[in-house]
Amino acid sequence: MPKRALITGITGQDGSYLAEHLLGEGYEVIGMVRRSSTVTFERIAHIQDRISTVQGDLLDQASMIDLLRTWKPQEVYNLAAQSFVQTSFGQPVLTGDVTGLGVTRLLDAVRIADPGIRFYQASSSEMFGKVVEVPQSETTPFYPRSPYGVAKLYGHWITVNYRESYDLHASSGILFNHESPRRGLEFVTRKITNTVAKIKLGKANELRLGNLEAERDWGFAGDYVKAMWLMLQQDSPDDYVVATGETHSVRKFCQIAFGHVGLNYEDYVVIDEAFYRPAEVDLLIGTPAKSEAKLGWKPEVGFEDLVTMMVDADLALLEGRLSGLH
Ligand code: NAP
Ligand code: GDD
Repeated sequence: MPKRALITGITGQDGSYLAEHLLGEGYEVIGMVRRSSTVTFERIAHIQDRISTVQGDLLDQASMIDLLRTWKPQEVYNLAAQSFVQTSFGQPVLTGDVTGLGVTRLLDAVRIADPGIRFYQASSSEMFGKVVEVPQSETTPFYPRSPYGVAKLYGHWITVNYRESYDLHASSGILFNHESPRRGLEFVTRKITNTVAKIKLGKANELRLGNLEAERDWGFAGDYVKAMWLMLQQDSPDDYVVATGETHSVRKFCQIAFGHVGLNYEDYVVIDEAFYRPAEVDLLIGTPAKSEAKLGWKPEVGFEDLVTMMVDADLALLEGRLSGLH
């Protein structure tokens, strides 16, 4: 019998890569999607005939209990969230409800439906916020700087709490920023690569950004979903940092992205106060030592390759050489 996994957030960037990875491992994949007036299946269109999508919402616990009882997955990957930091300042309560309390609703659904289910929580380096240690590891104290970071911290600790209280096989992956051609257009990396492609093709003439000095440890999403899966294959649940161990500024990202198509970012980037945040996370850099040692995980795509992969994909999309986000 193939193993069965449930992914919440399957329509998101990570959900699509994780679904591909699990299919490759021979899993039956169930994706929980929330009801909306138009479907948002662009990232999973190419595998839609190989997965089952079922309705459920992190805001509605009954839907998740029902779903777990009906589908009986052995593994649950909780990737759903209001995941955009900037939006969390404007919608702090919704973000807390979905990204924070939503984790409790799902963990409790697991406890009620089948406490033998292995559970993955998508925690975030945003929890380190105003960092108290460089680089950040599993033992670095947290200091979140946004309603999103605070909500993720709640999600992280409730995962630890359910592990310790109810003996659940619940693991928390503290993932640093990871990107891909499937990244949402509002995140800085994709905003840059998509606008670079538009400028190159004569469809835009400027790129409006906020803080160019912020530094992030950027990896490739396709690499990071493998670490999620590896966590649930361990005998015991645990917490793991997943990162590359390198950090680069938004400015550097711009330099490489524009340079890749023969342009100088200084000719096109306009600083716009609208994209500054009430509180910023200035520097993130993680150490993947534990993931490397215990999971045997290593990032495969380097920073420059990631940037150029994303620019090339956006050029191909805009020129009609790619039919979708895969
Ligand atoms: P994403 O592209 O924004 O995807 C978020 C997913 O959550 C979408 O499928 C969305 O569905 C779903 N969702 C939102 N609200 C929901 C609700 N109330 N009920 C059910 N589903 C809901 O995010 P991502 O980049 O793939 O990230 C995956 C997870 O990892 C998120 O939890 C994120 O916070 C976390 N994380 C991401 C990174 C990163 O760098 N990407 C780093 C650390 C942690 P719709 O399609 O309907 O909107
Ligand atoms: N989005 C955006 N847009 N960010 C900008 C812009 C802009 O125009 N200009 C500068 N930035 C800066 C932000 O201020 C931030 O310091 C950095 O670029 C990265 O912003 P995002 O790409 O929006 O990502 P994030 O680091 O805030 O959050 C992402 O990574 C977290 C992990 O650390 C998201 O994927 C979160 O869901 C994830 O948890």
